[in-house]
Amino acid sequence: MELPRIVFVCTGNTCRSVMARYLLEGGLRRRLGETHLPVEVDSAGLHSLEGEPATPHTLQVLSELGYDASAHKSKRLTPEDINGADLVLTMTRAHKEAVLDMVPAAADKVFTLREYVASATGRGMPAKEDIDDPAGGDEQVYRMCRDEINEQVQALVELLAKKYGPDTEGRDNKVLVGIGCDHAGYPLKKAVIAYFEEAGIAFRDYGTYSEDPVDYPDFGLQVAQAVANGDCQFGVLICGTGIGMSITANKVRHVRAALCTEPVSARLARQHNDANVLAMGGRLTGPVMAVEIVKAFLATGFEGGRHQRRLDKISALEEGQS
Ligand code: RB5
Repeated sequence: MELPRIVFVCTGNTCRSVMARYLLEGGLRRRLGETHLPVEVDSAGLHSLEGEPATPHTLQVLSELGYDASAHKSKRLTPEDINGADLVLTMTRAHKEAVLDMVPAAADKVFTLREYVASATGRGMPAKEDIDDPAGGDEQVYRMCRDEINEQVQALVELLAKKYGPDTEGRDNKVLVGIGCDHAGYPLKKAVIAYFEEAGIAFRDYGTYSEDPVDYPDFGLQVAQAVANGDCQFGVLICGTGIGMSITANKVRHVRAALCTEPVSARLARQHNDANVLAMGGRLTGPVMAVEIVKAFLATGFEGGRHQRRLDKISALEEGQS
């Protein structure tokens, strides 16, 4: 079966459209936990040279999110690319107009990225439609551009996951694991995500996406709420010690977060406490140990029985606070 084809378009095909492509492919893999993407994703430039690599800053800011775009080679957009695409998403309105000048008949499938996401999600159109060219800017300018694109692309991931995700085949579309970290937990989170990808474990990454300082409660809360409301079956939270994340997550009703430093506690946290969030310390636990802890946590079931009675008492405490 031929896959639906999405083409991202910018000017030179060395920065913005490359970021969009890798963010979408990676986001879909993370969201659906599958090695085969439900769509084909490509990128091209209106004025690009052929065969140029992505700019160093583009490679850098993508690698910060775990994406390797070193194989990218720029190419110039052709009428065939437009005709062969199901959706053409441009970075600016001027790009959109240039694409439509090439193939006027493509009007029903060419949109700016922001325009498409706004209309497909029902969100209002943002005041700023264009995603500006970071060329000539420093790494931080590229990082901001990446984050602007990623915000739109993540909405696209959700739309595509709903349309082409496993639930369309009658299977459970629940994301298995929600993962989040602060700056101190970011390196370890990358190692855990690498394990998820290798093991084909479906996950959703709630950020943060770099080592720039952030506040752990902002990320801990998102993952804990995703677990509490059933979006994710389990959560994994990583800060420097794991302590701040576990304190945060345990404030959310129905969340039982366990801070683990070795696999035995992780196994017992599942067997005895039915823990649904695993917290780890990125500055204290190494990647090999962390993966063993995650494996033990995800592989172990709750034993129920006398342990359920104890959990009921914890639930009663939560109710008493309402
Ligand atoms: C950040 O420096 C650090 O305080 C945080 O990552 C965490 O360890 C808090 O518990």
